[in-house]
Amino acid sequence: MLKDRRILLIVAGGIAAYKTLELIRRLREQGARVRCVMTAGARQFVTPLSLSALSGDKVYDDLFSLTDEAEMGHIQLSRDADLLVVAPATANILARMAHGLADDLATTVVLATDAPVLVAPAMNVRMWDHPATQANVALLRDRGVAVVGPDDGDMACGEYGPGRMAEPQAILAAIAAHPGKAGAGPDAVSGPGPLAGRRALVTSGPTHEAIDPVRYIANHSSGKQGHAIAAALARLGAAVTLVTGPVRLADPPGVAVVPVDSARAMLDACHAALPADVAVCAAAVADWRAADSAPQKLKKAPGQETLTLTLTRNPDILASLSAPGPRRPRLVVGFAAETERLLANARDKRARKGCDWIMANDVSAATGTFGGDRNTVHLIRTEGEEAWPALDKTAVAERLATRIAETLAEPSA
Ligand code: C5P
Repeated sequence: MLKDRRILLIVAGGIAAYKTLELIRRLREQGARVRCVMTAGARQFVTPLSLSALSGDKVYDDLFSLTDEAEMGHIQLSRDADLLVVAPATANILARMAHGLADDLATTVVLATDAPVLVAPAMNVRMWDHPATQANVALLRDRGVAVVGPDDGDMACGEYGPGRMAEPQAILAAIAAHPGKAGAGPDAVSGPGPLAGRRALVTSGPTHEAIDPVRYIANHSSGKQGHAIAAALARLGAAVTLVTGPVRLADPPGVAVVPVDSARAMLDACHAALPADVAVCAAAVADWRAADSAPQKLKKAPGQETLTLTLTRNPDILASLSAPGPRRPRLVVGFAAETERLLANARDKRARKGCDWIMANDVSAATGTFGGDRNTVHLIRTEGEEAWPALDKTAVAERLATRIAETLAEPSA
């Protein structure tokens, strides 16, 4: 979803500017075109040469450069992009943006653009907490500016708290999930129907966990069930973001699809897609990944008969989306694919992960569920359990979407 996107990246003067180098590299790896504008402050942290080398384009920083204006005026620069990304967005540039200042090239471009804007704030925790910054961010959000992060954590200044710029992977996922200028990005649009105006997040497919640049750990998930759920929710009018591992399926119509490979990328993409009214985690996320993915292809040595790989736990996306907090979706639905003790394991899972509903399905080989077209599901909720008959995965998706619509129509507790 990043292929051929035109991103104008505005780099402001914060210590996190070094992370934008990684962001540019990853954007370009995924086929996006990146052009950079930097503020005078940003020059203190990264050089125009590094930005230009990584973006493969000229870096713009001077509002009054006759050469630049002759090549590409600042108005054209601002209009030539699908999405403007300000990263790091310092307290200063957020304030200037909120008040419509145009006192350098960066802010002039933000004021002149017809493209949407995404900001990744980065600053000291007290500066972030300051009512002035909070008011500026609220004003920008009201005007439709998308915000990713900041994260909690240790800061370069020695303090701890919110203010660290979101990781490049999370910014990348937020860019991929952003619709951009009309038609440029994935089109998660809300339509008519019982879920009109609701936002839904669905995960689907397997994950691929790199062992080295050419090998990975994966599983047999086809993504059929997750994709069918995304399509069913969209048919009922929800604006759906589908975060999917590698699958051989067409994108469901009217759904914003964010392709990812690993569990960690899926987690970041899911959080970037919030807020949502409902999240359905149908992906078969790998529980483990290689502790150290080798930078080069692993070679076998003469006479070598065994290879030991150390695996480490992946984040649990369902548990993370279910954790209490202001961004928790009102309804979180997980799947329990079991080969034995179906209901008991599924009930345990619901409690352990903190989700609201569990769709329990038997995936033992005899059922042909994995990769097949049919599914036999038990829906487990606090209100009670329902045993559904063996149904097509599309029919399972329709039923689930209908249950979700009924529940979201009730007043929230
Ligand atoms: O723990 P288990 O894999 O059996 O749980 C299945 C449910 O948890 C599914 O809804 C799956 O999408 C979700 N899950 C997840 N992240 C993981 C593992 C599972 O979201 N790392």
